Amino acid sequence: MITIKSEREIELMRHAGMLVSKMHQFIKPYIKEGITTKELDRLCEKFIRDHDAIPTEKGYMGYPASICASVNDTVVHGIPDNYKLKNGDIITIDVVIGYKGYQGDAAWTYAVGEISDDKKYLMEHTEKALYEGVKMVKPGNTIGDISHAVEVYAKAHNLGIVRELSGHGIGREMHEAPDVLNFGKPGTGPKLKPGMTICIEPMLTFGERYVYIMDDEWTIKTQDGSMAAHYEHTILVTEDGYEILTPRLD
Ligand code: MF3
Ligand code: CO
Repeated sequence: MITIKSEREIELMRHAGMLVSKMHQFIKPYIKEGITTKELDRLCEKFIRDHDAIPTEKGYMGYPASICASVNDTVVHGIPDNYKLKNGDIITIDVVIGYKGYQGDAAWTYAVGEISDDKKYLMEHTEKALYEGVKMVKPGNTIGDISHAVEVYAKAHNLGIVRELSGHGIGREMHEAPDVLNFGKPGTGPKLKPGMTICIEPMLTFGERYVYIMDDEWTIKTQDGSMAAHYEHTILVTEDGYEILTPRLD
């Protein structure tokens, strides 16, 4: 069931979303050569708890950390560990924060020091693919319109679209109906209505689209070792379009 949020619920989701944005802004200066992903996780968890909020990912189906920290060829669900970031890495920080029972969810990919032009290209166009999807959000359009816009943009830029993972509805739960795929046909799927809240999150690669899951049962990597980027926003459908509940503050 796709839930329609009341004004009160939307207010709480705005707050949760703003905490997600602020946490990204907070962690950005720490993303430097030499820091471990575990240390990033510790800092993020402290930030979240200091804001009277909950790191929703921690304990979700046994997930052991407060953020996902996915480096280079890891697409999603990288578990923070003792890996020390190196100059030239890219790292996606994906976080879900709960505030008074409502969730905000956003991911950005960050550069560590000086990165290659290929990585810059991948990051720039994965983020733009997200906004192509976001631009389709308005009452009357469908989920398929979003999916299609992301697909067209990613294909035009020769990036691989990971198909096994998708965006989703969000609210009291971090994952609600509907699925928001990163490929699809215009005019298909549920119609968007004011008060719906969804996460759009292209996961694109600088190579083939195929992925595999590691023995830890979380980490998802590209099969061909190509780099992956991931950008995600929590979006509210408004009367005449959309509101980004996790705005970038940089
Ligand atoms: N934040 C992810 C998403 O965008 C989900 C994280 S899975 C978890 O859907 F296990 F880490 F929580
Ligand atoms: Co999400």
